[in-house]
Amino acid sequence: MESVAAIILAAGKGTRMKSNLVKVLHPLAGEPLIHYPVTAAREADASRIVAVVGHQADAVRTCFTGSEDITFALQEEQNGTGHAVACAAPLLRGFHGKVLILCGDVPLIKAATLREMLKEHGKRGATVTVLTASVENPHGYGRIVKDDSGKVTAIVEEKDATPDQRAIREINSGIYCCEASFLFDAVARLKSDNAQGEYYLTDIVRMAAGQGLVCAGHPVADAHEIMGINDRIQLAEAEAILRRGINLAHMRDGVTLRDPDAVYIDTGVVIGRDTVIHPNVHLSGRTEIGQECVIEPSAVIRGCRIGDRVVVKAGSVLEDSVIHDAVSIGPMAHLRPGTVLMEEVKIGNFVETKKTTVGKGSKASHLTYLGDAVIGRDVNIGCGTITCNYDGVNKHRTVIEDKVFVGSDVQFVAPVTVGRNSLVAAGTTVTMDVPPDSLAIARTQQVNKEGWRLKKK
Ligand code: UD1
Ligand code: CA
Repeated sequence: MESVAAIILAAGKGTRMKSNLVKVLHPLAGEPLIHYPVTAAREADASRIVAVVGHQADAVRTCFTGSEDITFALQEEQNGTGHAVACAAPLLRGFHGKVLILCGDVPLIKAATLREMLKEHGKRGATVTVLTASVENPHGYGRIVKDDSGKVTAIVEEKDATPDQRAIREINSGIYCCEASFLFDAVARLKSDNAQGEYYLTDIVRMAAGQGLVCAGHPVADAHEIMGINDRIQLAEAEAILRRGINLAHMRDGVTLRDPDAVYIDTGVVIGRDTVIHPNVHLSGRTEIGQECVIEPSAVIRGCRIGDRVVVKAGSVLEDSVIHDAVSIGPMAHLRPGTVLMEEVKIGNFVETKKTTVGKGSKASHLTYLGDAVIGRDVNIGCGTITCNYDGVNKHRTVIEDKVFVGSDVQFVAPVTVGRNSLVAAGTTVTMDVPPDSLAIARTQQVNKEGWRLKKK
């Protein structure tokens, strides 16, 4: 099998985004825009990927940390799409397969479409294949010019087009498949004698046709796939399309979405069957949810691993936490990063946890802060319990062993350990370790001054 490489054009700034962030790093369903064409290229079997970067090049590079198959070509000045490909050429020196060219700001392109285009390209013996679309309003796009036999002879940019050419409704998506041997030679010979004074990649079509080589047009079935993102309105449109696709896929896989138009699930989130997701739920950052869970309205879940039969009640926020089976959370609980809840834990309303492990079957049902704590099994944490984990300089640990009963309104001044099966009386401020099987109580004796109110009058 001949190998495939891909070039992703992503040097442009994206002026119309009116943003401090370079366009291709704007998130779309939780992933930077540029991740989408890169993923599509990978899934179309591109074994080497070159991203052409310019604006905020370092930030774009950083968003691919850990990806071994991608290298970066710096295009310091953006002199046109042809110049961008020429910048990528040295990184693909000696490569003789097919080169897919994609745009970093065209995120909805599907791998299946690229695969079809590659197949057609081979079948027709083409040197260049352009992915095209016929659209109602071709304004701003390059037009596909064909001869009588249907072969593509040129792509003409709007600004360089004759009135006749402007009337053509078949447009250039900016996505191509080219033979490497032709492509790199051709982009080295481009000239910038056009309306924009740029090196147009599109001119390689005229060059190939002039040499008697085959240039093919491959129409895309769904024009949404080639939609470019130029401003925030198109970003929102693309997100709506993507979200709809994500939600349909989850429903097909057996997840109930009570209102699929009002559930926000990012790319890469995994949900088990028979889980029910209520409206206004946000699931992001590689979250995984098991089977038969219920995620109530307005839950925000980011970067969490959640087991089966978990109930997340309304208004809860869960971040970078691990939740085992049959746990109940909320309403309005806040699990901060580093929380681990073992099976059958109950975290009730207005409970906040951080870097805390709660053992199987333990409960913190109301109004509690648990930070930097290790809590054993079958522990009851009373209402209003607080771990005083921070002394203004350092964080300290609270350890509460199995079967401890903590009464209401207890403070643990960390570092402190409560031994197994002890009871901490309501209102106690725990400042010393408590041995196992003990009662810890720290309150001043209550004094009743009878008649006191009457004397005050
Ligand atoms: C280009 C095509 C046009 C096509 C349209 C589809 C050319 C000459 N024209 O036009 O036929 O209909 O895309 O959207 O190719 N880029 C660089 N370096 C550069 C210039 C561009 O990396 O020097 C990148 C941009 O960041 C962007 C992509 O290439 O991701 C396309 O560039 P853009 O300026 O949007 O091209 P258009 O003029 O819209
Ligand atoms: Ca464009």
